[in-house]
Formats: sequence, C-alpha cells, structure tokens
Amino acid sequence: MSNQPKITCSNVWKLFGSDEKRIIKDLDKNLSIKEVQEKTGHVVAVKDVSFSIEKGETFVVMGLSGSGKSTLVRCISRLIEPTAGTVKMDDVDVTKMSGRELLDLRRNKMSMVFQHFGLFPHRTVVENIGYGLEIRGNKKNDRIEKSMEVLKMVGLGGWHNNYPRELSGGMQQRVGLARALAVDPEILIFDEPFSALDPLIRREMQDELLKIQEKLQKTMVFITHDFLEAIKMGDHIAIMKDGEVSQVGTPEEIVANPKDQYVKDFCEDVPKYKVLSASKVMREECCDDTKKMFENGSNNIPHNSKIETLIDKLVDTDQKFPVVNSETGELVGEIDRAIVMKSMKSAS
Ligand SMILES: Nc1ncnc2c1ncn2[C@@H]1O[C@H](COP(=O)(O)OP(=O)(O)O)[C@@H](O)[C@H]1O
Ligand SMILES: [Mg+2]
Repeated sequence: MSNQPKITCSNVWKLFGSDEKRIIKDLDKNLSIKEVQEKTGHVVAVKDVSFSIEKGETFVVMGLSGSGKSTLVRCISRLIEPTAGTVKMDDVDVTKMSGRELLDLRRNKMSMVFQHFGLFPHRTVVENIGYGLEIRGNKKNDRIEKSMEVLKMVGLGGWHNNYPRELSGGMQQRVGLARALAVDPEILIFDEPFSALDPLIRREMQDELLKIQEKLQKTMVFITHDFLEAIKMGDHIAIMKDGEVSQVGTPEEIVANPKDQYVKDFCEDVPKYKVLSASKVMREECCDDTKKMFENGSNNIPHNSKIETLIDKLVDTDQKFPVVNSETGELVGEIDRAIVMKSMKSAS
C-alpha cells in the first residue's frame, strides 16, 4: 500500500429535493438534518464529507441504516450527482467528467458489487461474469478465458454453465464478485455485499475477499452497517452518522480512541485483543529488569503485535517483556499479563 490517494472526496454534499442547488447556496451548515427538512423540504443525505482513500487499500464506510452510505458511494461513482463538492480519482475530477468519460470510467476503471446480486437470470454463470467484457467489445474466447479464471479465483470452478437460480445466495454473490473482477478494475465499490447472507456464509465471503485483496491489491470502497465486518475488512474506516463522517481511522485507532458516544457504542462489541496492538496498551515506563532483557534481545515484542498473539506467551508468567519499535529497534515500553488482561475488558 502506498500513501498516494486514489480517491479524494472534498466537501461532498447531497440533498434530495426539487431545488437542491439553490437550497445549498445559502444553507446554514449548522442546521440539523431535521431542521433543514422542516425549513426547506430537502433531505440532507450526505453532509460536507471529506476524506481520501489510498491506492490499494480497503476503505470501509460504516454507519447505521439511513446514515448516507449508499448515497455517498453513488456520489463517488456519480451514479447520482453530488449537490456540491468534488470527487477526484487520481488527479481527475469525476464531478466534471462528461457522459462519455463517465462511461469509460465505469467500463474500464471501476466495478460495483451490490447487496442484491443483480445477475441476469437468463445468462449462465460464465455469461454473467463476461458481461462487462462483452460491453467493452472483447472477443468471445477472451471473455470465456478471463471469466473462467476469475470464477476459479472466487471458488466456483466448475459452475460456469449453471444459471443463477441454481446457485445459493452465497454462490450468487461470488458470481457478482467475479463479474466485478473480470474487467480488472482499479477500483471496486461494494455496497453491503454480504448483508443478505447467513452469518457463516458471510464469514466465508469476508475471508475470501480478504484473500483476493491480498493478492490483487485493488482500491476497494466497502460499505457495511456491521462494525465487526468493518474492523475485519478495513484498512481505514469512516464512520457515518446522519450524513456526516464522525470519525476516520484505522480499526485500531478507532477502537483505541472512539471519538464520541456513537462510536463508543459500536466499539462495545469488539474483541479488543484482536484489534489493539502491544504499543496501544503497554506501560511506557520500563523497570530495570525490562531494560536488561531488552539489552539481551531475546524476548522483545514488536510494538505492532496484536494482543491476541501475545496471550500464549504471557498467560503463565508474571514476567514483564520489553516492547520494541519494529522499525527503529528502540525500546518503547513494557507489557505483562496484567496489562493484557485489562486490555481485554470490552468497555473502554
Ligand atoms: N432518492 C432519494 N430521495 C429522497 N431521499 C433519499 C433518496 N435516497 C436516499 N434518501 C435518503 O437519504 C438518506 C440516506 O440514505 P442512504 O444513503 O440510502 O443510507 P444508507 O445507505 O446508509 O442506509 C436517508 O434518509 C434516505 O431516506
Ligand atoms: Mg445503503
């Protein structure tokens, strides 16, 4: 992953109503969504959202139903027109693209996967997957070859001649994913792709997508209303509430420092030992024994080790261990069983 932004949203707004462009001009930005609705009859679905998404990362947009997630990503892909603000992909302003440029963007650069798979019922699996390539004008043999390749990647090898109705929900969504991957897009947008699936199938799909992402390193925008899914899938997470982004950060940053009660409430359910690393819970002051051990160098714990991975080492001993910055090699603190136990308590 590099630090170069692939997608940048700056002050994006979306109002639904008959006169959105005029209303936004002299809108008092301090008004709540409810007040705007009462005064103007317009729904504020996305309110002054800014963030950037790095190339090759999975960026999750998380929030309760109605918080504006779908509207926001539709503004990013311009399936709907933002009322105000800009969206850039690389250095190109998507909000200024002509119809033709948008078409090109959607055919060649960006794919979407939705909750309801949207497969063509009268096309076989392989024909569904090849659809994007067909539109692009690729030859039949190339389409089939590419489709079979991605079909294997999503774990459905051998199902190419079946029809969607012959597949379970999870399998249909695998086809949806394969269809999105077939055009080899730079950007993949997922709008609650797993929300309609049973928990076990859902977990399988999450794992599958993580595996695929590790290999392909696409820029992914992933929407979910499920915080645990957000934590699992996201390199960064933007938490939305009432059309606004209330916090952006890595899963660890958010769980370690939830900004307000809304975010704190989501964090309640998170198994912290899976998210937090040694440096977030350690004691910075080190005792002499720890310093000595650090000098010997045999029991150093890298600062970015997740707590989960330290349990076996710490559970049977009262010993303190040095925590070491894994990049610089410096001693940054110490950790012991008591600290780890405390960090596992769910309430922050
Ligand atoms: N076409 C539309 N017209 C009017 N209001 C809409 C429209 N689409 C969405 N909204 C409203 O915008 C808000 C955000 O919706 P949405 O983006 O679908 O949220 P989410 O995806 O987080 O559930 C909601 O209050 C919803 O009712
Ligand atoms: Mg939605």
